[in-house]
Amino acid sequence: MQRLDKILCDLQIGTRSEVKKLITKGQVQVNGEVLLRPETRIDETSAQITCCGKPYRFQKYQYLMLNKPAGVVSAREDRKEQTVLDLIESPVKDLSPVGRLDKDTVGLMLLTNDGALSHRLLSPRRHVAKTYEVTLQQPITKDQVSVLETGVDIGDEELTMPAHVKILNDTVIELSIREGRFHQVKRMLEAVGNRVIHLKRLRMGGLYLDETLAEGAYRNLTEEELLSLQEETPSLEGIEAVIFDVDGSLCDSMWLWKQIDIDYLAKFDLPLPDSLQSEIEGMSFYQTAVYMKERFAIPDSIEEMMKDWNEMAGTYYQTQVELKPGAKEFLELCKDRGIKLAVATSNSRELFSHLIVHHGLDAYLSVIKTGSEVVNGKPAPDIYVSAAKDLGVSPEKCLVFEDIIPGIKAGKAAGMKVCAVRDLYSIDQDLEKHRLADYYIEDFYQITDRYGAYGDTPERRNYV
Ligand code: URA
Repeated sequence: MQRLDKILCDLQIGTRSEVKKLITKGQVQVNGEVLLRPETRIDETSAQITCCGKPYRFQKYQYLMLNKPAGVVSAREDRKEQTVLDLIESPVKDLSPVGRLDKDTVGLMLLTNDGALSHRLLSPRRHVAKTYEVTLQQPITKDQVSVLETGVDIGDEELTMPAHVKILNDTVIELSIREGRFHQVKRMLEAVGNRVIHLKRLRMGGLYLDETLAEGAYRNLTEEELLSLQEETPSLEGIEAVIFDVDGSLCDSMWLWKQIDIDYLAKFDLPLPDSLQSEIEGMSFYQTAVYMKERFAIPDSIEEMMKDWNEMAGTYYQTQVELKPGAKEFLELCKDRGIKLAVATSNSRELFSHLIVHHGLDAYLSVIKTGSEVVNGKPAPDIYVSAAKDLGVSPEKCLVFEDIIPGIKAGKAAGMKVCAVRDLYSIDQDLEKHRLADYYIEDFYQITDRYGAYGDTPERRNYV
């Protein structure tokens, strides 16, 4: 039982004094009866509340987006400093900031009393991406970007995980990271020889700062924003086959082609132009070779170039490409449940064979489909339809894992359930991935956790 004015505040109808006025003016009805006293206690979980003719639903949880201003600390209470909670008029019980921003950092701050959501967003294991707009003291250099994107020694036991850098101008970058170490962004920039002079958080998982919110202002999340934060773990009930895309879905390999371009051009003493990756996006292997030969006047033949790249990629697949966190445990889970497993990759069979050897995948996979075996590439459904046929499983009983939008579309067009997999290299498209796919996972542990087992392997303990 709670006071009526408090409940109306919690519903974000107005400030305490505004809702008191509404009540005393007879604008508020509870279970069809006008209540005129703000202090009347009612059961907020069952009451039908109407205010100014508009019905309000009881919300167990509150989710607020705050554009945090500088000068306030990310705590519930503090003896000396103003806190983010002090900015909220009549906060619900247990409302807390999700994670911390430094006192001088501004931008997206989620506040909620939904402890499970908070826990999920902050869990180090989930690696929820956070994007910051970082204003720097010195112009950013290529070397600095390269170290940030590889992993930085900030004096902790482990290097930072690879970050993603988008250059807005010389001294302003967007940095996406998937950890939440103490002062992480500032320490990363300091470690590469630069310095942060202004820091603003723009995004947390699928939630983006509403730029129309003034600093210090806040509002309830919309249904869509809330959806973008929900965990959407797929169910294996009724699933007879799981089909994986490889690069960016089953394994962390999207960095590899850029690295090959860097290594390859270096052989001819050429630096990697910033725009090259976007220039060749969507081109086939052959088209890329033709383009690069002309663009950089490469003396080798197209065939030699492709052979070189394949060899370089093969070495990376054999030695450095890791499976996505929890993927091996998920393969085990599927095997134990009698779920058939396949891959459907635009990559060549030869390259994928290196990954099979490196990670012992032949113990799990019964079908391997490659792009060259079908007429139309993704987003056409052909590769998934063909894999399901070989598996002998009807499409609606197949679950596909994909990291990019054309792949998600291909799985859906094949009539399958599709789970989007988070990957740093398609992080810009996360919201669209959420929308198009049936499910979304940060990592495969999300699924193995749901089924209870496979949690305590040595890899898992290291990862946690
Ligand atoms: N990294 C920092 O250095 N500070 C913040 O406030 C957030 C991330």
